[in-house]
Amino acid sequence: MLELCRLADIPDGGARGFAVEGPDLAQRLVVARLGSRIFGYVNLCPHALSRLDSEIGQFFEYDDSSHLFCDSHAALFRVEDGVCIEGPCEGQALTPAAIKLIGDRVCLDQPNVALVDEISKILSDLR
Ligand code: FES
Repeated sequence: MLELCRLADIPDGGARGFAVEGPDLAQRLVVARLGSRIFGYVNLCPHALSRLDSEIGQFFEYDDSSHLFCDSHAALFRVEDGVCIEGPCEGQALTPAAIKLIGDRVCLDQPNVALVDEISKILSDLR
């Protein structure tokens, strides 16, 4: 179990990105918060398999905190289940991540992974 952050580190109606790596896994994640509920997904749009937040950390469009937004081709995904309700991948869904809230700790239920700096991960992927 890997602690990603505390619940208070994600603003209500907001989302935060993370990058994790281990021997068998390297993923970017997005965790969205609605009140005391959290929803975690792999940060990979099912349309063209690019990250949702081409501007790092920008997961929503304007004041809409109910839908994660992929700004590559303007897809909207319901926060609660990750289903795309508008855009080129309508009907498809984000891949759920094993995110759990334990007390006030936002955790990834995945063994043998560690948090990595997201900016460094992006730069290393470009090489
Ligand atoms: S890559 Fe997300 S909508 Fe095209």
